[in-house]
Amino acid sequence: MRILVIGSGGREHAIAWKISQSTIVSKVYVFPGNAGIDVDNQLIRIPVSGPVSNEHIGKLVNENNIDMVVIGPEGFLVTGLVDYLQRKGLLVVGPTKAVAALEGSKIFSKVFMRNNGIPTADFEIFYDFDKAADYIKGSKFPIVIKANGLAGGKGVFVVKSQEEALLALQHLMKQRTLGEAGKCVVIEEFMAGFEVSFIVLTDGRNIVKFPICQDYKNLSNSGKGPNTGGMGAHFPLPFLNENMLSKFEEEIVRPVLRGVENMGHVYKGFLYCGLMVSESGEARVLEFNCRLGDPETQLLMLLMKGDFLPLLENACRKDEFSLSDVSTEFWHQRAGLCVVASAKGYPGEALKGDVIEVGRQIGDDPNIKFFHSGTEILDGNLITNGGRVLTISGIGENKDALRNKVYEKMSQIKFNGKHYRNDIGLTEIREK
Ligand SMILES: Nc1ncnc2c1ncn2[C@@H]1O[C@H](COP(=O)(O)OP(=O)(O)O)[C@@H](O)[C@H]1O
Ligand SMILES: [Mg+2]
Repeated sequence: MRILVIGSGGREHAIAWKISQSTIVSKVYVFPGNAGIDVDNQLIRIPVSGPVSNEHIGKLVNENNIDMVVIGPEGFLVTGLVDYLQRKGLLVVGPTKAVAALEGSKIFSKVFMRNNGIPTADFEIFYDFDKAADYIKGSKFPIVIKANGLAGGKGVFVVKSQEEALLALQHLMKQRTLGEAGKCVVIEEFMAGFEVSFIVLTDGRNIVKFPICQDYKNLSNSGKGPNTGGMGAHFPLPFLNENMLSKFEEEIVRPVLRGVENMGHVYKGFLYCGLMVSESGEARVLEFNCRLGDPETQLLMLLMKGDFLPLLENACRKDEFSLSDVSTEFWHQRAGLCVVASAKGYPGEALKGDVIEVGRQIGDDPNIKFFHSGTEILDGNLITNGGRVLTISGIGENKDALRNKVYEKMSQIKFNGKHYRNDIGLTEIREK
């Protein structure tokens, strides 16, 4: 099979790398990719050569005789790339536009949860600044304010006072700093507990559950600093047990699939449930994403022992429910850890163009992988080209020993302004 992976981050590098190991793959293309795709002999990068539209991607698919497209980022799902490519008769991994509204609109998603009895924080919806401002006067803090639309991780404010809440509302609804995305908002109850990423691949009826991991969202150690796209991830999570996992499936995943079916659609692709798990083990949904998470994927692709490609193919055949669950053998029974290095300025405007020096021993351990995110090649040098620059991921028998190995590899990579957290895998992430 000839596969095209869409996206340019570490998630897409990891997906493409994993697919390239398949026994049924012939070529793996990545558009627009990053320098990691350029330097990997198994992968072919298609660089950007003009405006990126559905039509442009359709053209790339034809030119390269692609059989199946795997979409990484949410933007393409929400604007209907799946629908477009399906109409051309292609296999595409990901939900259609109507279903991707579960990620594309927080309001749609919260109403969907309410209508389908899916546990989530209590909420109110506001289309009007004055009404929202009035509402927070009577609120208990902390409270959470969310822009309705896609905001690249910048649309959620956990606020501790009325002043902070007003600032967030002004920013979103008056100044429209996030444009249309902040025109209307959800204001919801703050939930305490352990935040986890529960991802399944589904054909609409059957599911494959991925190992549940945690994503470290704050920039700095001990949960300090601003929110980011994710600075690392770890697995396993000792506070989860099999009982809880079955409950997450029955109370959250199944009702999503049924709810989507009741709307006259079929959920095909990845369903990412961001969950807040309380001390007593009850989970409530923070949000749904309709694609794999980053950096989680950079860890999950290493934890996956079996062949990814047949699963992807079975999850996207039109009118077929051919995905079958995998045995525990499909996953390595190991600990996993990934650490992200970011550039100076991130998550604000990040410095670009710094030369990255990579130690010679970086690739000498088959259980440790170096994935690229914001990288490019300029005049033969590897340079920084984005906020999150690269990731070191690893699997091993024991988390402590693995931590040492991953951090040792991380120290072999150098660039000006390099930043990473030192505490990935050391502590569980917990909201108090
Ligand atoms: N109701 C809530 N209670 C506590 N924390 C929350 C709540 N909603 C969101 N958060 C925090 O804010 C982060 C971002 O919110 P999320 O809904 O996932 O938006 P997005 O990923 O689209 O930015 C979450 O990962 C979580 O840490
Ligand atoms: Mg999120």
